[in-house]
Amino acid sequence: MAEPKENVLMEKIVSLCKRRGFIFQSSEIYGGINGFWDYGPLGAELKRNLRDAWWHSMMREREDVVGLDASIIMHPMIWKASGHVDTFADPMSTCKHCKKLIRADQWWPLMCEQQWTQSLAALTEPVTNRFNTGDLLKWAKGRGKQLAPNLALVRNPEVTISWLVQEAEKGKHPADAREFYLYLATEQLGATGFITPCPHCGGELTEPRPFNLMLQTHYGPVATDENIAYLRPETAQAIFVQFKNVFDSSRVKVPFGIGQIGKAFRNEITPRNFTFRSREFEQMELEFFIRPDEAVEALHGSVATVPSQGHPGEPQPNWGWQAWHQYWVEERVRFYENIGLPRATLGFHIQQPNELAHYARATVDILYKFPFSKEEDGEVKGDELEGIAARGDFDLSQHEKFSGKPLGVFDEEVRAAWAKLPDARKQAMREEFIEAKTRTGIDKKKLTPADAAEAARKEADAFFEKLAKGQFVPHVIEPSAGLDRLTLALICNAYSEVTKTDDKGKSETTVVMKFHPRVAPIKVAVLPLLKNKPDLVKKAQAVRDLMRPWMNVFYDDGGSIGRRYARQDEAGTPFCVTIDFDTLGEKPDLLDTVTVRHRDDGRQERLTIGELLNWLLARVR
Ligand code: GAP
Repeated sequence: MAEPKENVLMEKIVSLCKRRGFIFQSSEIYGGINGFWDYGPLGAELKRNLRDAWWHSMMREREDVVGLDASIIMHPMIWKASGHVDTFADPMSTCKHCKKLIRADQWWPLMCEQQWTQSLAALTEPVTNRFNTGDLLKWAKGRGKQLAPNLALVRNPEVTISWLVQEAEKGKHPADAREFYLYLATEQLGATGFITPCPHCGGELTEPRPFNLMLQTHYGPVATDENIAYLRPETAQAIFVQFKNVFDSSRVKVPFGIGQIGKAFRNEITPRNFTFRSREFEQMELEFFIRPDEAVEALHGSVATVPSQGHPGEPQPNWGWQAWHQYWVEERVRFYENIGLPRATLGFHIQQPNELAHYARATVDILYKFPFSKEEDGEVKGDELEGIAARGDFDLSQHEKFSGKPLGVFDEEVRAAWAKLPDARKQAMREEFIEAKTRTGIDKKKLTPADAAEAARKEADAFFEKLAKGQFVPHVIEPSAGLDRLTLALICNAYSEVTKTDDKGKSETTVVMKFHPRVAPIKVAVLPLLKNKPDLVKKAQAVRDLMRPWMNVFYDDGGSIGRRYARQDEAGTPFCVTIDFDTLGEKPDLLDTVTVRHRDDGRQERLTIGELLNWLLARVR
């Protein structure tokens, strides 16, 4: 039965985000705009640090990945080739009464959040979903009228209850909580079948229909069908269509990757959970191009197998797609650990064959256990931060087909190795290729076995003919992460409350945002003990100026030191540096030393100004 899902922790986090300038509702003074968010001063710094951390770990610290910064609006044919025009759609229902749109897969979570479902749940036996008709009638004529005026039970209580009773007499009861609400939304089961109620008003929802998620615009002075363009729904496609330019201009060799960070737009039907599902968001995507397994086998005799769990270690020349996929999953987990999300806060979803697109060989989603993440089978697995997909050669091949431009590469080593391969081995590889493609054709594309085999043979002819010449379309492993979701995960993970009781027994609860120093919006706060002592102020400003070129420093001279520490705790500043009279030499042996206070345990230590910068750099980088 639907449980009340008041999310107190999430409410506190949202309120802190506004109060401290992490995240604001977009266009708030005009009433806001659903699904769009702005990052305030602290949020902008946090997000920038995450962006930089990703760019650093993916690009700067590696030899084999280069960057791209492509336009948001691209040729509309790109979205035809990628499949987004035809298939990037969510099934959506409309309420016939209040006209609200509901994404089919969001129906149940939305239902669970409603006051009317929660108040009905309280009237129903938890496991059997049985009810007392008197209670239902009373609810329909009272609370139901306010909360779900268009529910069949509310509009026609006697009719609905009488068929419920008839069903009960036949021994038919709602199988589960979901079905219970279908019963209450239906008056004439024989005539209409079960009606699905609108979570907002209880009215009848239409059958779900596909709704394309791309946001449209027009380019040029007149808006016609000829100049429709789309705000990109993902950054990945730009990488595929610029693959050849990057390859030809950058002295890279397969295997290598192209990474990009940028805005993406999706006209989400139900943006929800704060910034988690937004209509405008930022992605951090890597397309890592590898040789097809057949080329690896020709070169190295066999394709390496790696354990399906754990990091497979440094990349090896004989790795095929499976090893690379496993490698990127583990690399991405290491990234999250490095910025303060321990493995225990993450979850994993390994997509099952029926969830995978026809071209995808494997996808692992990395999840974070958000406060709003639901429990399933007694366990909170989390919600998606990033997906790591092995996409075969689908993307480049599609763009080859639609643009008419070759996007394959020539690899002399592969040509030479293939020429030396015994014919029997070549034949065996061809048969394996045909068998795998035939299976996909039958299972995923729903072709007849004969058609699937025929298509597979044609594909094999083209593929092996090219491979013999050292030509192939690279396959791709795609780690695709959401920057806004990651920012939210770090905010949720950092949030903690500390309650202190003073000598008089008075308790005060304060918030400490325990960001990892690497991503904290402010790295260090510089606090002169008193603001009306020019010598202290001058020294504090000198310390601030010393560190400013290297990190984000905050200077604060207002209020008691305790208040200033508390303000920095809420902002998540890992270190506060206090300049006091000892710094000025009141105790001569402490001249030019400062107190560094640690955010998480309040510990203090004394350092010289001379060693401060390196001490901090070792911790915040
Ligand atoms: N190129 C593959 C791709 O775009 P996706 O799973 O649709 O895959 C990748 O998106 C990541 O982008 C997600 O894991 C998520 O972090 C982020 N993302 C997707 N839709 C989002 C939305 N509406 N709001 C915020 N982030 C979103």
